[in-house]
Amino acid sequence: MRTVLIDPPRLPLIAPSLLAADSANLERDARGLLDAGADVLHIDVMDGHFVPNINFGPAVVAALRRALPDACLDVHLMIEEPGRYLDAFLEAGSDLVSVHVEVCEGEGVARGLARRIRDAGAAAGLALNPGTPIEAILPDAEVFDMILLMGVQPGFGGQSIDPHTASRARTIRAAIGSGVRLEVDGGVTVQNATALTEAGIDVVVAGTAILGRPEGEWPGLIEAIRGDVVEGQCPDGL
Ligand code: DX5
Ligand code: ZN
Repeated sequence: MRTVLIDPPRLPLIAPSLLAADSANLERDARGLLDAGADVLHIDVMDGHFVPNINFGPAVVAALRRALPDACLDVHLMIEEPGRYLDAFLEAGSDLVSVHVEVCEGEGVARGLARRIRDAGAAAGLALNPGTPIEAILPDAEVFDMILLMGVQPGFGGQSIDPHTASRARTIRAAIGSGVRLEVDGGVTVQNATALTEAGIDVVVAGTAILGRPEGEWPGLIEAIRGDVVEGQCPDGL
């Protein structure tokens, strides 16, 4: 269900991060996550410049698209030059592409990237790191389908969440209204997920909390992180 981020049948959506998957068995883990109830597959892309780590490229997105034609692929570009690689990730079959506000310097840059992403038929996300003031994303939030709030300094999974994440989520949700997705990424656990969804988060990325456990536990972990579901949530104004 590739449009699930835009027209969610239920909220919150659960988007396990493949950063925490077995990189030698990505398809196997991705299928297992979807079978376990995941709504979205979160694909972290790192260039070794914006973050001190390097991993998936467009070819991995394309391979997952071929293997999982109906999966919703949520691609998180933690890269210095998103504009340079955007077409490659869009052509690879991304359903949503998020770019970081920290690399969108200059008037209209973020809006221009959002337009390119949406013109290609995908949904557009704008991401901000824990240390970035919320004001940085507000002027352009209206042209994005999702705001991606980092709970950790990007680059690696398995970190502890920044203690201000829930309050930041509450502030962003109040500013963007109910029709835009608000995703949290980094440091999510079964223990802190409820506080985040109650603060207005409606897409939850979790890597280590799910993929760090045996596959047999994934369905229970996904449901525990999902918590109380609000059925039939159709966004207004999207
Ligand atoms: C950070 C990555 C992580 C990953 C999820 O660059 O974006 O946040 O998706 O990490 P954990 O394992 O903390 O859920
Ligand atoms: Zn991510």
